[in-house]
Amino acid sequence: MAAQENTPTKGEASGAAGTAPLHVAIVMDGNGRWAKRRGLPRTLGHRAGVEALKRIVEAAPTLGIRWLTVFGFSTENWSRPAAEVAELMALPKRYFETDLARLEREGVRVRVIGSREGLSRELVKICAEAEARTAKNEVFDLNVAFNYGGKADIVDAARRFAEEVAAGRASPADLTEDGFEALLATAASPPPDLIVRPSGEQRLSNFMLWQAAYAEFIFQDVLWPDYSAEHLQAAIAEFQTRNRRYGAVAPDDALATG
Ligand code: FPP
Repeated sequence: MAAQENTPTKGEASGAAGTAPLHVAIVMDGNGRWAKRRGLPRTLGHRAGVEALKRIVEAAPTLGIRWLTVFGFSTENWSRPAAEVAELMALPKRYFETDLARLEREGVRVRVIGSREGLSRELVKICAEAEARTAKNEVFDLNVAFNYGGKADIVDAARRFAEEVAAGRASPADLTEDGFEALLATAASPPPDLIVRPSGEQRLSNFMLWQAAYAEFIFQDVLWPDYSAEHLQAAIAEFQTRNRRYGAVAPDDALATG
């Protein structure tokens, strides 16, 4: 994997004009519509979505991205028809069977974030193997959000903190934003600089609710199975035109208020 000269630390933010987003998060949306337009079953749309994921994981480090988080299955997706849920449950196996060796070799660290509750024993084992085999990698981080929900992530973190308090190891007064962030499923990554959603839909759908506080959002009119490195490059180019102020004012405007 040809990563760009890019060795940021977790605490480093990006977003000054011209810099690449270090952490990009993607809602991989549009598989069903892609299949429907071709008269195919939705399952084939999801399989095509796995191929798009492979392309983007390969391309991301070459575009200056250091962390990539993708939304593969939400806590709400259980409400889909059983046959579709079964197909979605088979996607991590489909992906890791063909790509885990390459990810391992190329320095990609995989984390599967989300609840293991409801997943088959085989799937839990597949996720654990992907994480274990890549645990020492440091070139690039891939977070696969699977059975993940932003609200559940926050509730789990709150529960963990409450347990620490109940056990006498923490006090409510000690809780800080940074401390809470460290309890979230994404603790090992900085917050996303850029959240991309293809397919034309413009919503977050319970993805990284806390982490999205200062992310830039880019919505693209392409269905996920058609998503290419060029689409990602276009999103990055738009990101680079954004002016991230984190609630402050730009220095020139600050002078004008004096
Ligand atoms: C949303 O599109 C997509 C999903 C629910 C599944 C996304 C999963 C992948 C792209 C592959 C993931 C691979 C791994 C390894 C987890 P949709 O089905 O809602 O599309 P629609 O809005 O057009 O119906």
